[in-house]
Amino acid sequence: MTVSILGVATTQFGELWDTSPRALVKGVVDEALIDSRLQLKNIDALYVGNMLSGILGGQENLGAFFASALGLVCPAFKVEGACASGGLAFYNGALGVRSGEFTNVLVLGVEKMTDHKPEEVALGLMGAGSDEERLAGATFPGLYALMAQAHMREFKTTEEEMSAVAVKNHYHASLNGKAHFRNPITLKQALTSPMIASPLKLFDCSPVSDGAAAVVISSDASRVKKPVVIKGAGVASDSLGLAQRNTLTSLQAAVDAAQKAYKQAQVAPCDIDVAEVHDCFTIAEIMAMEDLGFLAKGEAGQAIFAGKTTLGKSQKLVVNTSGGLKACGHPVGATGVKQIAEVVTQLRGKSEKKQVAGAKIGLTHNVGGTGAVAVVHIFARE
Ligand code: COA
Repeated sequence: MTVSILGVATTQFGELWDTSPRALVKGVVDEALIDSRLQLKNIDALYVGNMLSGILGGQENLGAFFASALGLVCPAFKVEGACASGGLAFYNGALGVRSGEFTNVLVLGVEKMTDHKPEEVALGLMGAGSDEERLAGATFPGLYALMAQAHMREFKTTEEEMSAVAVKNHYHASLNGKAHFRNPITLKQALTSPMIASPLKLFDCSPVSDGAAAVVISSDASRVKKPVVIKGAGVASDSLGLAQRNTLTSLQAAVDAAQKAYKQAQVAPCDIDVAEVHDCFTIAEIMAMEDLGFLAKGEAGQAIFAGKTTLGKSQKLVVNTSGGLKACGHPVGATGVKQIAEVVTQLRGKSEKKQVAGAKIGLTHNVGGTGAVAVVHIFARE
């Protein structure tokens, strides 16, 4: 059964101290419903992607929480998979449609992080790591720094190449009115920014952000001319901790999820025109480009440095037109849904200043933890 995306919306990402999660969600759902030309009463099920509301806000049971806040009377589910919560909520919502159980499904991703102390947020995020990593006092910047060091050792990847990811994504975010950071940065600024966990500096890290995104999907697209549809989807998992992995320079879950998605969509990496990949740290975008088969192992850093995936320069694939997690921001549960909203808008040709000319096939890649879970979707306009 074909699943079409009828409506998408994203809130402003950033430090949204004067907006409650309920208000964020109400606004973004209203916008997605208008886009879908459906009403709340047409929604058969709600899927909410979120990671930290229980740990940081003391509020669990988010399916029922947001259904009741929205005035929805339907089955409602919370899906949690760390920073991949949004992508996994979408995957499960789409399964609900494909099974024939639901016709119209609302998928929501939401996270409110900046109202809390940095140490509480860091500890909450480490809920996605293994117990020995937590007990050792590791943080996500520290764990991705280990992967960066391994990649530098094995493939001669440089700090300049990682900084080039940040420069590209800040440039793309400067064209996105909803991004957390809209300031373009230079390579020198990125390279000389404060050290967070060697070799990762401030500009190698995604920020702590608030935000929400919503997508309406359906098996009935009879009223829409040429809807964007899901062509392929894949989810895979791996060990929670880095110590149990065979390699630190590739995320096997991402490789496996991508292979499933490509096979289902019957496309190859060279067919993708636009992609949103999970750049929680700059090294993560470099590894994603290789894990997704866009570039050979060890070649992504140089290609990004040469501008080969930058809007306006790329002859083919443009990556992270939203600004990615790095500059658009990373409200963890919202990120996977925002990635889908971005790619759908690109395929509709409605991305204005950041439009990738002629984009026909798009991909999203959303990762939880240090690669313990990954979800990849492929979209096209029918
Ligand atoms: N990129 C660019 N600028 C950033 C930034 C980032 N990631 N994070 C913060 N800033 C800026 C702030 O806007 C602020 O600028 P200002 O002084 O001009 O207002 C300044 O840096 C200090 O901000 P602050 O909030 O005090 O930063 P911090 O030192 O508390 O946090 C990090 C910086 C990198 C530690 C934090 O952003 C972080 O932990 N990021 C990773 C989040 C994460 O692990 N997510 C899960 C991924 S798997």
